Amino acid sequence: MQKLVITGGTPLRGSVVASGAKNAALPLLASALLTDEPVVFENVPELADITTMIHLLEDLGCKVQRNGHRVEIDASAVNSTEANYDLVKTMRASILVLGPLLARFGKAKVSLPGGCSIGARPVDQHIKGMKALGAEISLEHGYVNAASPKLKGAKILTDMVTVTGTENLLMAAVLAEGQTIIENAAREPEIVDLARCLKSMGADISGEGTVTIVVNGVKKLHGTTYSVMADRIEAGSFLVAGIATGGDVTVTHCQPEYLGSVIDKLLEAGAEVITGDDWVRARSLGRTKAVDIRTVPYPGFPTDMQAQFMALDTISEGASHITETIFENRFMHVPELQRLGADINIDGNTATVRGVAKLSGAPLMATDLRASAALVIAALVAEGESTVDRIYHLDRGYEKMEEKLKALGAKIERVNK
Ligand code: EPZ
Repeated sequence: MQKLVITGGTPLRGSVVASGAKNAALPLLASALLTDEPVVFENVPELADITTMIHLLEDLGCKVQRNGHRVEIDASAVNSTEANYDLVKTMRASILVLGPLLARFGKAKVSLPGGCSIGARPVDQHIKGMKALGAEISLEHGYVNAASPKLKGAKILTDMVTVTGTENLLMAAVLAEGQTIIENAAREPEIVDLARCLKSMGADISGEGTVTIVVNGVKKLHGTTYSVMADRIEAGSFLVAGIATGGDVTVTHCQPEYLGSVIDKLLEAGAEVITGDDWVRARSLGRTKAVDIRTVPYPGFPTDMQAQFMALDTISEGASHITETIFENRFMHVPELQRLGADINIDGNTATVRGVAKLSGAPLMATDLRASAALVIAALVAEGESTVDRIYHLDRGYEKMEEKLKALGAKIERVNK
């Protein structure tokens, strides 16, 4: 087990390169199952979750070559359509192989992901959509068994906006017979990235990025080479860290157009934010003002940035309300932030944060991916030394975070326990 040792109080200054987006790369890697021709992905982040997805694809019979940020996948010799529990239990996004397997091979057996620390995270909408496309679905012994000689296009209306649900259904629909219309589709940029890649493979898709995606099924998809979009959540996390520490951080190789709601909140908090074509600079102008946050589907404020902004609010001037509307248990960073001296009360899905003048370092324990980022930000602000334990959570979604932070002036070390 490893932990981070952080000495707070140093303003972060300088520029940092955003890595490829985890939440775009995961569905993209799964989409390689849709063709028997090689698919090459560039700018794939080196993360634990990516390694898990690669192992799952290899388990299915794919040949995968990974060289740094380049991943080549050949799914011509897939010899299994079963994603077993041992792999799926470590990463919920494994459910993303259901759609492609069903579309190309007419059957799939994928373990139900089970809950995770931030919520039950069911996949009923994925299943509802696959049934609408004509799949026979049974749930047995914790597995989704899906079968369909040939998927048929259909009109699908999901009960709520679901990111991976939309992605799974999009990948199932591209080889279905006829037209599929996905209503109430998620509008996240990662879905646009997936659609762009599928179109480069020969898919016929329109409306991606809006609430209605239209897919006209094609017989076959061909290979492609595709570069993964930048990680908007990593970029946002570094911008918040820069402001929280009273610094001046520029994130390059990112897409400012996907950070609108985050930039709005940084401006509301009193930071200076400048954007270029592929970079964003956030400069502290003194102590921030507390800002209210309400997480909603894109283009609203992202739930994946909620914990990071709470860390900022703990040392901002005034009180703020943070409401989490997407997941039922995404406040696990609160007790850890309280150990640093934060003043936070939780009432249902709303946390009230009263800004304090300072935080003081303490031993902390990460509980989930974005909570880990919040703890690192808070520790960078707190006086004295903090440790963050169980940083395998952090390694799922942040590539070399401590190295990037060190390059910005942070006093941070990764140590073996
Ligand atoms: C994706 O998760 C992201 N993961 C999450 O990022 C992100 O927080 C989330 O979208 C919301 O933006 C990946 O893309 C790999 P949802 P996903 O389906 O698709 C409920 C991170 O930190 N729901 O949009 O699993 C669900 O319980 C991770 O990088 C159903 O009830 O989220 C939740 O309350 C965490 N039934 C809400 O919808 C379903 O069939 C939104 O979930 C599907 C979802």
